[in-house]
Amino acid sequence: MKNDSVVINGRQLSTLALGTWLMSEQEAYQSTLAAIRCGYRHVDTAQAYENEAGVGKAVRECGLAREDIYVTSKVAAEIKNYAEAARSIDLSLERMQLDYIDLMLIHCPLPWDEYHAHKAYRYEKENREVWRALEDALAQGKVHAIGISNFSEGDIDNIIQAAKVQPMVNQIHCNALHTPNALIRYCQERNIVLEAYSPIAHGSAIQNQVLQQMANQYNVSVAQWCIRYCQQLGMIALPKSTSPEHIRANMQLDFQIKEEDIQRISQAADCPV
Ligand SMILES: NC(=O)c1ccc[n+]([C@@H]2O[C@H](COP(=O)([O-])OP(=O)(O)OC[C@H]3O[C@@H](n4cnc5c(N)ncnc54)[C@H](OP(=O)(O)O)[C@@H]3O)[C@@H](O)[C@H]2O)c1
Repeated sequence: MKNDSVVINGRQLSTLALGTWLMSEQEAYQSTLAAIRCGYRHVDTAQAYENEAGVGKAVRECGLAREDIYVTSKVAAEIKNYAEAARSIDLSLERMQLDYIDLMLIHCPLPWDEYHAHKAYRYEKENREVWRALEDALAQGKVHAIGISNFSEGDIDNIIQAAKVQPMVNQIHCNALHTPNALIRYCQERNIVLEAYSPIAHGSAIQNQVLQQMANQYNVSVAQWCIRYCQQLGMIALPKSTSPEHIRANMQLDFQIKEEDIQRISQAADCPV
């Protein structure tokens, strides 16, 4: 099936991962276990989610070899210097009780309150320092791949110009109601693998009538249609669910959306970032 895998730093991965934002540690533990049992092999957490310990516990207890599971975490958006970033990666490893993290991202180019306030100051020098901490963690084997999240074209250029290791991944807000086509093209032209966060628009896509009609045409749920949409854009989709039924349903994606439907929705949902 088209776009069902991507390669990050030599590692081939499926284009589906479990999101865990807003899960408690216990929910993250249970949902990660449920997901792994029905076939997911990639789970997305972050220092800011305060549930890394639950994800790590599930990975250690799931019965599969560590190398069969892919764990992503993120350096908190508010950390903007080398020493704190390096220390935070060690703390993530301690909380998860894992020997390495598969993919570590910078969660956001700006601290969250400034990002949401659309502040002009882009923390260029600071992001390059945090990136250097990620490069060093990669060289030390503490993480196996490194990337960014919520970075715009200018934020990415800033890293690329100073980096020893190019960003391997950009995790961005993308779904069938919000598709940053120019940023997607920009990343794909630079071989940066894209991950789509909030692929179901935080649940709100399910109420959308256009998407309901679309999903009906394919005999699938809106959630399934939205996840497949992100995959067919060439991205890893990160649906979050604490419901075992939804977790299972979200990986039943054995259908192909027509290119003309992808184009129609992505044009209607086009946005800058
Ligand atoms: N890098 C970043 O800055 C960033 C920002 C936001 C999110 N993320 C990542 O992306 C992940 C996903 O994004 P998200 O949590 O915002 O939202 P999402 O995955 O778009 O939507 C999650 C919502 O959809 C519901 N849902 C899931 N599957 C469903 C199904 N089959 N049928 C009906 N409802 C369903 C979930 O409820 P139930 O739990 O009841 O199923 C939940 O309310 C996050 O968990 C996180 O890992 C990253």
